[in-house]
Amino acid sequence: MSDEPLVLGIETSCDETGVGIVRGHTLLADAVASSVDEHARYGGVVPEIASRAHLEAMVPTIERALKEAGVAAGDLDGIAVTAGPGLAGALLVGVAAAKAYAYGLGKPLYGVNHLASHVCVDQLEHGPLPEPTMALLVSGGHSSLLLAPDITSDVRPLGATIDDAAGEAFDKVARVLGLGFPGGPVIDRRAREGDPDAIRFPRGLTGPRDAPYDFSFSGLKTAVARWVEARRAAGEPVPVADVAASFQEAVTDVLTRKAIRACKAEGVDHLMIGGGVAANSRLRAMAEERCADAGLTLRVPRPKLCTDNGAMVASLGAEMMARGRAPSDLALPADSSLPVTHTHVPGNGHGHGHGHGHDHDHDHELSRANLSEPGEGTA
Ligand code: KG4
Ligand code: ZN
Repeated sequence: MSDEPLVLGIETSCDETGVGIVRGHTLLADAVASSVDEHARYGGVVPEIASRAHLEAMVPTIERALKEAGVAAGDLDGIAVTAGPGLAGALLVGVAAAKAYAYGLGKPLYGVNHLASHVCVDQLEHGPLPEPTMALLVSGGHSSLLLAPDITSDVRPLGATIDDAAGEAFDKVARVLGLGFPGGPVIDRRAREGDPDAIRFPRGLTGPRDAPYDFSFSGLKTAVARWVEARRAAGEPVPVADVAASFQEAVTDVLTRKAIRACKAEGVDHLMIGGGVAANSRLRAMAEERCADAGLTLRVPRPKLCTDNGAMVASLGAEMMARGRAPSDLALPADSSLPVTHTHVPGNGHGHGHGHGHDHDHDHELSRANLSEPGEGTA
């Protein structure tokens, strides 16, 4: 038997009910139930529908994961759960379930950060993360460059989006093109038949005076919308595949360029890419090419581990256990706007100062968290 921790991870920050089981760096189960079809007709995730779907899917998904892993609940060494960021009501369902299992089984509970989990998951695919890890984190709510000396306790943002996240831009452009929701996968698909050089869309924040590691995709999104509207107004057909490919090219060009610049400046020899947008086939291909040219090793998990899942949460929980980080207490709050620097939430009243490489005022963060609005923040 291995002495690596056997951890079950629960993810409910958005519309995926994810339950994963890992032993150390080994993936044993990755069960996901998605409510995406229930949101499609609204053109976006409806928080109340997501929460209800999590509630219905939670126990069956946990049972499916245990069966897939071939372990009994009593064998688990710990329970990890996404404490934030994400939709408040959705997070609450996962946090409540994790507390119930941890309490019922008498096992430690780890409330972890969704964003750090998107990075940590790569350990299941490519082994231990380098320290520091340079990560480009691109999801529905975040586009950030992170330097993480220790993914369980020390994550430093080098830059982030100043407006729309990359995934958000994919979703909005898909809506403009009438391609439905979520936009990322369908744009990825349609772009394959298009010409990425057909239209030269703007590359935001890439001027010599612009912040080197911040991103902006709002201008690009508007440029695409104007271009499409102009075609429609002129009564001309919209070349959907070309627009999708040209838009996707602009996003991936900026993301990879800035990420590689950061790797060089920080003297790291690799680039990790995580989050739902890391499933994008063009981003993966372009990153592969540009990293090879720059002499960098690219680490991107397989697409299923890039989009939201429970295995990523389990992997960060297992790493916390392996490194002896203090667990959260059972008063753990869900924090819809948990900052990326807070890899782990200790809970109310206990565990302060354990496993944190930052100097934020926790009491302030936690009391604010309890007051956060439902629906505020997305992962
Ligand atoms: O990480 P994630 O699954 O959930 C959040 O934490 O937000 O990311 C979701 C985002 C959505 O905006 C979705 O459109 C985008 O990831 N996405 C993609 C692809 N698959 C998912 N974007 C581009 N290409 C894809 N293949
Ligand atoms: Zn995510």
